[in-house]
Amino acid sequence: MPIRTDYCGEVSSADIGRTVTVCGWVDTRRVHSEHLAFVDVRDHTGVVQVVVDERSEVRSEYVVAITGTVRARPDGMVNAALATGEIEIADTTVDILNAAEPPPFPMNERTDVDESIRLRHRYVDLRRPKMQRNLRIRSKVNSAIRGAMERQGFVEIETPMLIASTPEGARDFVVPSRQNPGDFYALPQSPQLFKQLSMVGGFDKYYQIARCLRDEDLRADRQFEFMQLDAEASFVNQEDVFAFISEAVADATEAVTGERPENIPQMTYAEAQERYGSDKPDVRFGMELQELTELFTETESNVFKTAAVKGICMKGGADTLGRNAIDDLTDKAKRWGAKGLAWFRVRDEGLEGALTKFMSEAEIAGVQSGLAAESGDMVFLIADDRRTANRVLGLLRLELGKPPVNEGGFHFLWITEFPLFEDVIDGNPIPAHHPFTMPHPDDVDLLDTAEGDGWLDIRSQAYDLVLNGWELGSGSIRIHRSDVQSRIFEILGIGEEEQRAKFGFLLDAFRFGAPPHGGFAFGIDRLTALLAGEENIREVIAFPKTQSGADLLTNAPGPIEAGQLDELGLRVVPRTD
Ligand code: AMO
Repeated sequence: MPIRTDYCGEVSSADIGRTVTVCGWVDTRRVHSEHLAFVDVRDHTGVVQVVVDERSEVRSEYVVAITGTVRARPDGMVNAALATGEIEIADTTVDILNAAEPPPFPMNERTDVDESIRLRHRYVDLRRPKMQRNLRIRSKVNSAIRGAMERQGFVEIETPMLIASTPEGARDFVVPSRQNPGDFYALPQSPQLFKQLSMVGGFDKYYQIARCLRDEDLRADRQFEFMQLDAEASFVNQEDVFAFISEAVADATEAVTGERPENIPQMTYAEAQERYGSDKPDVRFGMELQELTELFTETESNVFKTAAVKGICMKGGADTLGRNAIDDLTDKAKRWGAKGLAWFRVRDEGLEGALTKFMSEAEIAGVQSGLAAESGDMVFLIADDRRTANRVLGLLRLELGKPPVNEGGFHFLWITEFPLFEDVIDGNPIPAHHPFTMPHPDDVDLLDTAEGDGWLDIRSQAYDLVLNGWELGSGSIRIHRSDVQSRIFEILGIGEEEQRAKFGFLLDAFRFGAPPHGGFAFGIDRLTALLAGEENIREVIAFPKTQSGADLLTNAPGPIEAGQLDELGLRVVPRTD
């Protein structure tokens, strides 16, 4: 096989007269004259046109090495759209290194190809320019993150994959133990407990580009396996954590886009809920939620006699939203948990909408001024308990205004003071982050007095990093005292016996000199997808699973041999549902 001298996309007019060898795949082939054909040869850098003997047997996706002389294209044949458009390689010798069957889909990006066909032939799909670009972006992101962490004195520690369960709120993937039939390892939902134990072990600053596994329903931003930049440090406060993580995301963003996000702003969870109705606000656009509760304290209307009334204004919406669209939004608001959706078109004469007949002049005028609404706008109000009003309007805001993923730049935002608990089920509060999060110092006393929904008001020292409306990462200052950790477990309904069985090692470790510590983890798949302008993390993962969890390329998951089941002491019981 001849030795490659040049990459296809890099041959230029500076090479005219040189003899070169390029290697790659046949992209397109056009018959030029009776004796000659034009072939575009492609590698990851681009394509170059070569002139071959018309009888040469090359077809689409054949793997070839082509040796020839670079020459200027004749006048009128120059292709300004191509980096190599001024030249071609002529007087060629063609070595066919491997023949190929016709590809299952066209290699150009203009053709929309069904994703299942792409995934079944992912090795072909990876050859396409978009996947080449995205996986190279991913590699840059990884390298930038690693560089930033190393520069800041973090030590990479690898943690095990076969472990006891680490609760992060998802189901575990489990691995049966052959040597102890009936016993199982869990695959890590995150390295959380090992990184905390590394702190007890005196590693001041830990990081890992870690693979995590969670058996949860897959979505555009979720896979069973995904990668995190996972980090932890001792003797730090929240601001220290923000500083070292900001450095890593800024380096990664700069490496991909050339622009460096500086001074990432912060917002409390409570403010994010009030202004955006979300704990991951997309601040690329306005349409903020406005407080209108005061306006309705004396109201005659039953609709607005509620704990909270909030509204949003859609600029120009009065004429763009028809009746069907509004009905559709109302249905959605109800599905999201609201009792209904009040809407008004803003006209020169004032508000127009079915509910105006139940409102006083002052209420109508107050809604309009409270939302700074002008003629031609559309306003929506939700009257409900405060949490529902915020949440539903937050979702409505996204429905009406969310820009496409690749528009509006990159807006990172820290959300601070997350609640310690996100729900109360059967009297037991459910942790909002994970059970290792330190409560907010001002709210610690509430741990002894809270009841019912009161649990939800206790703040924690947990924080998230948000990018353009996606949760990029989460972290917290951790509990480092055994007694406090035990108390939190107890509140979560984990009794003493269960604590010993599941977390005895952690409680013990905390008694052997655990330093105060805190950390963070962010999703590398999510960061890469956003930086690459992709809506779905599958587009930045080389070999992803489908929405239903299948690997269409290797046909996983699949059955295993009866002998293997025997060895593991397992029996498969047919599903009854
Ligand atoms: P958390 O569970 O919030 O925190 O995860 C951190 C980040 O990991 C990414 N992520 C995912 N990405 C793709 N697919 C998934 N299924 C998936 N699940 C999570 C998200 C998320 O923000 N141990 C804690 C961190 C800490 O406290 O230090 C943790 O794992 O981007």
